[in-house]
Amino acid sequence: MAAASSLLAIGFVLAFSVFTASADVVETSFHVNTLTANRLCQNQVITVVNGTLPGPTLRVQEGDTVVVHVFNRSPNNVTIHWHGIFQRRTQWADGPEFVTQCPIRPGGNYTYRFNLTGQVGTLWWHAHSQWLRATVYGALIIRPRRGQNYPFARPFGEDTIMLGEWWNADPNVVESSALATGAAPNISDAYTINGWPGDILTNTSCRPNNTYRMNVVRGRTYLLRIINAALNNQFFFKIANHNLTVVGVDAAYTNPFQTDVVVVGPGQTTDVLLTANQSPGLYYMAANPYASAIAVPFNPNITTAILAYQNARQTTPTLPTLPAFNDTPTAFTFSSNLTALVTSPFWSPVPQTVDENMFITIGLGLSACGTNQTCGGIFNQRLAASMNNHSFVLPPRISLLEAYFRNISGVYTTDFPDQPPLVFDYTNVNNSFNQSLLMTEKLTSLKRIKFNSTVQIVLQNTALIGIENHPMHLHGFNFYVLAQGFGNYDPTNDPRKFNLVNPQERNTLGVPVGGWAVIRFRANNPGVWFIHCHLEVHLPWGLGTAFLVENGGTPESTLPPPPADFPRC
Ligand code: C2O
Repeated sequence: MAAASSLLAIGFVLAFSVFTASADVVETSFHVNTLTANRLCQNQVITVVNGTLPGPTLRVQEGDTVVVHVFNRSPNNVTIHWHGIFQRRTQWADGPEFVTQCPIRPGGNYTYRFNLTGQVGTLWWHAHSQWLRATVYGALIIRPRRGQNYPFARPFGEDTIMLGEWWNADPNVVESSALATGAAPNISDAYTINGWPGDILTNTSCRPNNTYRMNVVRGRTYLLRIINAALNNQFFFKIANHNLTVVGVDAAYTNPFQTDVVVVGPGQTTDVLLTANQSPGLYYMAANPYASAIAVPFNPNITTAILAYQNARQTTPTLPTLPAFNDTPTAFTFSSNLTALVTSPFWSPVPQTVDENMFITIGLGLSACGTNQTCGGIFNQRLAASMNNHSFVLPPRISLLEAYFRNISGVYTTDFPDQPPLVFDYTNVNNSFNQSLLMTEKLTSLKRIKFNSTVQIVLQNTALIGIENHPMHLHGFNFYVLAQGFGNYDPTNDPRKFNLVNPQERNTLGVPVGGWAVIRFRANNPGVWFIHCHLEVHLPWGLGTAFLVENGGTPESTLPPPPADFPRC
């Protein structure tokens, strides 16, 4: 009997591996704790996962199930978001605080379980509670399942480059003190690569003594996974004397795209092939900010790591020439020339019809200071941001998903508009301080969508307060980027520019400064999905909303109940 059942078990394992290739359970624990770290010549207490900055890298194969036990032993509320994971049938594991779940309180635990199907490449995870993601983040690397290959020659090696942002301060305090007055938060003190600022900072006398180093062998090709985990900055990234070939973005394969510069917005990832084909030496990898807003202060520093050839005789690395901080043409050339690899096993064709047509203005504004208060924003009001002039507010005591699932009224409305309340010359900078356009309303309004409908959104930047490139991120889905441009979207002529054949597929897109982008997706994932600007400064100001996607008619298309250990408020 025992022999028979183990034979049966072997048979089952064989059958299982034949039909699903390999589906493993990757189980790990995240211990969230504080750490005293010194990155910029002074000690700073930070919150990290498993004692490291960046936190642990999750390495999985496509098809695997991931189980992460989170133990919050920090003094902060914590949630973890698996940025870019679809969370089909595991909607309760998505993570954004008060959208999906209530936070894991200090001392609390929660287990995130989800599977990783239909995407290969680089994603990442980060805290989704206040500004904690400044130090609570790590890479999530998805390799092809056994028996499948990359659509490019197998690289000799690989490495992950996580761009970050460092404050010599508690980032949650930076956020809350700004919100207290309505003024803009303090800018960061340095940018980092894999947690280290690098060794050529210009705005400080501090010389950190640790720089990330990647060792390479001449003649070999490496897969470099570039992740922008910074809070408030987009970056240009270059490696001195080396060209790069982009092969994927946001865990979706692209057609190979040759470039010497990568532009990466917060939330985005870019996979590039790098061939070590220069003379054996030391070459800086460097990133500097792409700061598209005019007259908004930013830290002009560059952050560096070192690409070190085996047997390099050089002692001082060569520095690349980086684009100017306002080099929008370079940013646009990069972001608008990527196309999807339609031979990818994960590609699905673009829906050619649209059920929900939305036109959404995105940008900054002001909200009322409040009676008997003094505010630090423009015109003595509070700085705010909005979509279609709805400035999004998170519910304080229950998540949107739970309120929807349990039919609790009074938490949100479903009247998020398909059009802005007012038509005006959106990108005209003469309107930037037009007081009749600046005020927004604080609301928790969602857009309700039928299961499986196709949604097209024109994201139109405004010039209110100022024009800026906004990296818009959608949870629960990838979207196709049909077109992008500058100025006001032209509904007559711009649809002719739509790429309906092989548009890049992403979860985060930098909508061009003073411009627009058109995205499309199929709402085939029931639940409540946040869409928001991934500049952390704009999120608490209200640059977001959520899609409430109704259930379809089958068990697979129905939101399941929350897990037993789901955090309570
Ligand atoms: Cu990477 Cu809602 O976030």
